Amino acid sequence: MEMTPAEVEAVTQDVIEKYQKFVNPTQVALLKVGGFDHIEHKAEGVRITDLEGNIYIDCLGGYGVFSLGHRHPKVVEAVKKQLDLIPMASKTFLNKPLADLCAKLAEISPGGLQYSFISNSGAEAAEAALKIARMATGKTDFIATVGAYHGKTMGALAITGREVYRKPFEPMLPGGSFVPFDDAPAIEAAITDKTAAVILEPVQGEGGIIVPSPDYFPRVREICDKHHILLIADEVQTGLGRTGKMFAVNHWDVKPDMMTLAKSLGGGVMPIGATLATAEIWGKVFHENPFIHTSTFGGGELACAAALAALEVIYEEGLPAKAAENGAYFLHGLQAIAEKHPKILKEARGLGLMLGVEFTDSDIGKLVIGTMVHRGVVAAYTLNNPKVIRFEPPLVITREEIDTVLGVFEAGVLDAIELLGDLI
Ligand SMILES: Cc1ncc(COP(=O)(O)O)c(C=O)c1O
Repeated sequence: MEMTPAEVEAVTQDVIEKYQKFVNPTQVALLKVGGFDHIEHKAEGVRITDLEGNIYIDCLGGYGVFSLGHRHPKVVEAVKKQLDLIPMASKTFLNKPLADLCAKLAEISPGGLQYSFISNSGAEAAEAALKIARMATGKTDFIATVGAYHGKTMGALAITGREVYRKPFEPMLPGGSFVPFDDAPAIEAAITDKTAAVILEPVQGEGGIIVPSPDYFPRVREICDKHHILLIADEVQTGLGRTGKMFAVNHWDVKPDMMTLAKSLGGGVMPIGATLATAEIWGKVFHENPFIHTSTFGGGELACAAALAALEVIYEEGLPAKAAENGAYFLHGLQAIAEKHPKILKEARGLGLMLGVEFTDSDIGKLVIGTMVHRGVVAAYTLNNPKVIRFEPPLVITREEIDTVLGVFEAGVLDAIELLGDLI
């Protein structure tokens, strides 16, 4: 039954008040300023509809969760079917969706990543990676990169390269050190006899959509081999087609020793994380005690069924190729706009459909995001670099929709230039 505008207004007010009293008052204030103080009501494909009936093209895509679009029918169907059988694992018997998912991940992942631990989020996937790397190597330390984002649990935070999230929670888990991204010699220089692993995002997401030079990953692989150090690829955001290949490391033909996945692995329907590693690493960690690392909810049938269906869809619909083709088109459009407006736009960059536009000032980016939501396009800035607006739409976005987004983005840029006048 449709709600009247007055009823919608009353419900929205009620939700805002509950956010203020019970969720997060500062967050709701920011949502208001940004023009996001609407209730998300339903979603399908690339579009989100709010309670008032406004429709938005989703160019944030849940920070990379909605690669398949919202509510992909095959994933929804798989989840509904599993729901009527056994949604959560008893943790005693064998679990077929879990076994099938781990086998599928071993088949598609690069370079002998035979075993997987299934969890519920990207941060949990990182936690497992850190623990497994420590136990497998007998060493304690990790090299990560400035601007890196691996999650906000205590372990993941210790390798996340932004002070603002780390400082209030110090002391951090010891052993994390940071080097500049895209600087292989800096990694080699930071290695000590305590270094267990180097952990890298193939393309830095929250750091501001930073694509490394083509020889970076191959060189890091060589360095890790030379010093007998593990290379962990955090493909939580880049994985499963986002950058135009199934895994971003495939661009450089690099085989990591471990990999983390989450976000789009659940097909945009279920939360799930995965930590993959070689048989050699696995043997050193789980052989003596198979319960050395566990999760009550991790690997539940519902989430694994969603992931299996998502992987099928990614192959059937050729989503990595779509991301490559449409990403190149989208990037070309963004670069053309950036070149026209150098006063406020520094650069457009990215790989596949993981795109970012860097503003000269973070406040201008926020202003443009606000104008875009009013015109029906959802975008957001990157968490570790607020000067960069990211575009990470579902990989099923069409050329027409990309054209609409480009028009809305440029209109926002023009609005900002007019508003700021002599200030820029
Ligand atoms: C590369 C990367 N790793 C890890 C995470 C953490 O994932 P989650 O928010 O599911 O804990 C994120 C989240 O944005 C991410 O982008």
